[in-house]
Amino acid sequence: MTNSTPQDAQNVLADAQSLQAIDKEEISTRLTKLAQTPEQFRKINTFMKRRSHMSQYHEHALLDAHFRYLYVNPTDELGKLGDISAIRDLRVLFTDTPNGSDASLVLEIGFGMGDSLFEMAKNAPETNFVGVEVHEPGIGRLVALADEAKLHNLKIINGDAVALLDNLPPQHLDTVQLYFPDPWQKKRHYKRRFVTHDRMAKVARVLKSGGKFHAATDWEHYAFWMLEVLDGMPEFINSCEKGNFTPRPDFRPLTKFEKRGITHGHGVWDLIYLKA
Ligand SMILES: C[S@@+](CC[C@H](N)C(=O)[O-])C[C@H]1O[C@@H](n2cnc3c(N)ncnc32)[C@H](O)[C@@H]1O
Repeated sequence: MTNSTPQDAQNVLADAQSLQAIDKEEISTRLTKLAQTPEQFRKINTFMKRRSHMSQYHEHALLDAHFRYLYVNPTDELGKLGDISAIRDLRVLFTDTPNGSDASLVLEIGFGMGDSLFEMAKNAPETNFVGVEVHEPGIGRLVALADEAKLHNLKIINGDAVALLDNLPPQHLDTVQLYFPDPWQKKRHYKRRFVTHDRMAKVARVLKSGGKFHAATDWEHYAFWMLEVLDGMPEFINSCEKGNFTPRPDFRPLTKFEKRGITHGHGVWDLIYLKA
């Protein structure tokens, strides 16, 4: 038995609110307003850098030179956001690996504690994967897991995915995946949601034609928000036709946040779009 905390109570309340009927017109109105907001106000981070405990083992993975073959841009001290200004090409990261730089390339944005990205990379050794995250305990954990498993097809970046997308050449990636992004439930925080027209235009630019954007969320409001954004963009084609979600694909492992959502009685919505 676990004791419930005030935070648990808040979560339950927030969940109950989110399960109320989704007002699709309100989503549309909010998105239109957001598109009309001056750019400097839309350029707000999609993440909140959290301080949390990290084991010595994972700290070691962030700091020790041995892990540099996996961890692309370590910081010189813990607690800092990684500098991604020099990362302009993700394919070159694999030049000296068994797959080489031309293999199919997947970018996962916000891998959290890394379990699902680790599973995917282990299960598809012929595909190259890059994960970008700002949460150091998760970065350290994934670096350590990948090193133990001697994964040759995974590279890990510390930093803001939005800035990374801006640095990359067009038509660079085969797949971009975004699993259980922060839902930013309060109306005044909607502009922090990763899926907005501006940020998805950045994703579209770096995807190859025919490339795939795969998102999943356990927040119903955010699921319909994503559908509204992506169905409305000429750069993307809904793989299940406009207005529809995708059945959960079995290649996507269960993530930590998905498990938590299921425990709270949330549904899960997947969306797969192809770059036009
Ligand atoms: C709700 S968690 C989900 C983590 C994981 N995908 C899962 O399902 O367990 C969202 C994660 O996205 C990360 N994130 C949000 N915006 C980001 C950005 N712009 N660049 C990199 N990571 C980001 C956060 O730090 C957080 O760890």
